Amino acid sequence: MTSTIFKKHIVCIGAGYVGGPTMAMIAARCPEYAVTVVDINPERIAAWQTDSLPIYEPGLLVLVRESLGRNLFFSTDISGAIHKADIIFVSVNTPTKTYGEGAGKAADLQYWEKTARTILQVSGSNKIIIEKSTLPVRTALAMERILNANDKGLHFEVLSNPEFLAEGSAVADLENPDRVLIGSRETESGLKARAEIVDIYAHWVAPERIITSNLWSAELSKLVANAFLAQRISSINSISALCEKTEASVGEVALAIGTDSRIGPKFLNASVGFGGSCFKKDILNLVYICEHYGLHEVARYWESVVMMNEYQQQRFVTNMIKVMFNTVAGKRIVLLGFAFKANTSDTRESPSIAVARKLLNEHALVVITDPKALDNARIDLHDCAGRIEFCDDPYEASRNAHAIAVMTEWDHYCELDYARIFKHMEKPAFIFDGRNILDHKKLFTIGFNVFSIGKSPLKHF
Ligand code: NAD
Ligand code: UDX
Repeated sequence: MTSTIFKKHIVCIGAGYVGGPTMAMIAARCPEYAVTVVDINPERIAAWQTDSLPIYEPGLLVLVRESLGRNLFFSTDISGAIHKADIIFVSVNTPTKTYGEGAGKAADLQYWEKTARTILQVSGSNKIIIEKSTLPVRTALAMERILNANDKGLHFEVLSNPEFLAEGSAVADLENPDRVLIGSRETESGLKARAEIVDIYAHWVAPERIITSNLWSAELSKLVANAFLAQRISSINSISALCEKTEASVGEVALAIGTDSRIGPKFLNASVGFGGSCFKKDILNLVYICEHYGLHEVARYWESVVMMNEYQQQRFVTNMIKVMFNTVAGKRIVLLGFAFKANTSDTRESPSIAVARKLLNEHALVVITDPKALDNARIDLHDCAGRIEFCDDPYEASRNAHAIAVMTEWDHYCELDYARIFKHMEKPAFIFDGRNILDHKKLFTIGFNVFSIGKSPLKHF
């Protein structure tokens, strides 16, 4: 890249699910900016420059190809890129801490802090630093303290621009976001930096969808958005348990309440539970922050959203065992889908992981199939090798199976030839629809015993 032809140099540290797609969109919409994405993982950086991107996301390859080599670059030269940068997005992972103080709840900020120290070390000019990662509220304060305690006379303006994209629809979400949120200090330099970031998004996002706020509101809003979304799922899942006891149908209840414009129809699909790298991590982070401020009742309230999700996964397996005559030992059980949702290869916190492990504990023979996520499934369950089978073809996977459990709502699972599948399964054959996507009456007519979430079972005995 040459330093003269571009209006500004943008760098993103972290070439993951967020860094890659967001920067590809900025590069495509803002050709006058050079956008360089850097990472400590050389395989990831290499893969972004091939036709086999490191993540699967509909439309992403075309988007990356549009700007790659023109004004979009991927590099492992982190120091070199930072040195040239005017604006730095930090999009490194912020997982739940697994050790020490706050283990199991607090965000692990080690990757985050390392980037701050690298920025400080290699910078020779003032820069705007943008929190793209999801972080505990008031992290920017620590960032400012680390960066601005320098003896080079440099000023770093720290902003928060949390990302709201969902996996599987990342490109569409970035193209047409409900909103872009930009938080800054409300000082002269903070407002100036804010305006620079607004300018970038204004290339393709309508002005009324670009929301600005103070730093702490922006940081906190990201955690709260995920908490509210997950809360809706846990709420409807809690009601699914009651539906199963009362012959109410959770789909009908969701429709009845979702048509109230104050409630709205989205995120009311009862399921085997929510997964993904964000919901659980961000709620636990919120819980930890509330505890830190002595807000124990608030912490317990949000913690219950995660507890309900774990209950739903346990309930799903307990029900499978109960209806399969109280034992699944030695029975071949197919998990249809392993990704945490459709249209992604991501399996982080997928309910399939918990369900597979629980079934293995019961000595079931677990067979996993998924159109995109089998490589990740193998990694997630590497310690179970020999006790588990991975199979590309759902028809092969279900041969001689006692049961099928739908774990991911891939569209093509609705189009499988279930009569063909039924023929080569052990009888009685069971289907547990953990996503409520199949035609249950049709399956029952074929001969299956059908168990879904929040609905009366259809069974032949
Ligand atoms: P990811 O693990 O896919 O990517 C993070 C990348 O950062 C990795 O490739 C890692 O190698 C790199 N990295 C770590 N430390 C580094 C360092 N010091 N220098 C350079 N690179 C470094 O994570 P992700 O899913 O992209 O999430 C990133 C952040 O965005 C998290 O805070 C997450 O909570 C948030 N977020 C994620 C999503 C999502 O859907 N995945 C959505 C919104 C927000
Ligand atoms: C989420 C947020 O939606 C996004 O705004 C944020 O930036 C990152 O976290 P993501 O985890 O990628 O996105 O996917 P999402 O569509 O939110 O689904 C999360 C989980 O909830 C999936 O396992 C999904 O299957 C499940 N889900 C979703 C339900 O069980 N029922 C629903 O009604 C909706």
